Amino acid sequence: MDNSATDHAIVATGLTKAFGNFVAVDHIDFEVRRGQIFGFLGPNGSGKTTTIRMLLGLLHPSSGMAMVLGIDIARHPERVRPQLGYMSQRFSLYNDLTVIENLRFFGRAYGLHGPLLRERIDFALQMADLAGRERQRAKQLAGGWRQRLALGTAIMHNPALVFLDEPTAGVDPLSRRKFWELLYRLAGAGMTVFVTTHYMDEAEHCNQLAFIHNGHIIATGTPTAIKEKMMHGQVLEVAPSDPGRAVTILRTAQSQGRLVADEIALYGLLVHIIGPDLYGQREPIAVLLRDSGVDPGTITPISPSLEDVFIANVR
Ligand SMILES: Nc1ncnc2c1ncn2[C@@H]1O[C@H](COP(=O)(O)OP(=O)(O)OP(=O)(O)O)[C@@H](O)[C@H]1O
Ligand SMILES: [Mg+2]
Repeated sequence: MDNSATDHAIVATGLTKAFGNFVAVDHIDFEVRRGQIFGFLGPNGSGKTTTIRMLLGLLHPSSGMAMVLGIDIARHPERVRPQLGYMSQRFSLYNDLTVIENLRFFGRAYGLHGPLLRERIDFALQMADLAGRERQRAKQLAGGWRQRLALGTAIMHNPALVFLDEPTAGVDPLSRRKFWELLYRLAGAGMTVFVTTHYMDEAEHCNQLAFIHNGHIIATGTPTAIKEKMMHGQVLEVAPSDPGRAVTILRTAQSQGRLVADEIALYGLLVHIIGPDLYGQREPIAVLLRDSGVDPGTITPISPSLEDVFIANVR
């Protein structure tokens, strides 16, 4: 089949994986267009890695199918694999090899040699900002550098589609930002990027998102569309004197029916109250807190973040 015949990099239909009686991925449907950054979000154990392994042709689906770059990946994995890149969850580098040796090793594994191999090594060094560190061993590199080197090794063969499984976990904020700039550049050059993350701020940077929970997809769309479609309620952000106690007080009021809210969640020193009709309840909420000895501070209506949306929809 001609790959250019479809503008979709991935079309998953009823894709399912059971381990014994346990269904880890349960009839999921989604599409990823070429050249997009597609964010796949979900809590621990929700089925993200299992889905990626099926899309790579490493795990056979129990039912359903996935067309990857226009080809049924379970039936013809060998036809698709040369065009796929993969940065696994605990990303894989050879610690005792140097930067350049790692790139050369992965390049050769993808069948590159001669001038093309050298060209791709130069590209990876430039992209990952690793020029000057060619002779350092991978184990000597700090988190952000290791992460960019791992990305470099995953795309040595210039794949049409790359899977990044929690590439930014445990990496400092500045390196995360730099990493996302790299992803934009790759997508801008036509590569499709499928990325999983726990960081909601990163989710907002994707072109399309799918939320997975207990093996089910509970929402798909652009970050804006997901917020509009799923978030019908209002969010109040409270900055009280004692946030921990404020949460306890508000939850007690909620359980007693004195406060109508779907969710009360702590965000650092701020409390988010999510509910159908909260903007008119600012004064009663302030009174509630004050009566229990907590200074409510400011109570501000805010637009919901993706994390608010997610929390409000998984409970
Ligand atoms: N080979 C396996 N045999 C049995 N159960 C498995 C197997 N692989 C995964 N699971 C289970 O399937 C579920 C989904 O796992 P998966 O690794 O896909 O989740 P995840 O979303 O990637 O989680 P995390 O964010 O922790 O990486 C989990 O409950 C996991 O324990
Ligand atoms: Mg995983």
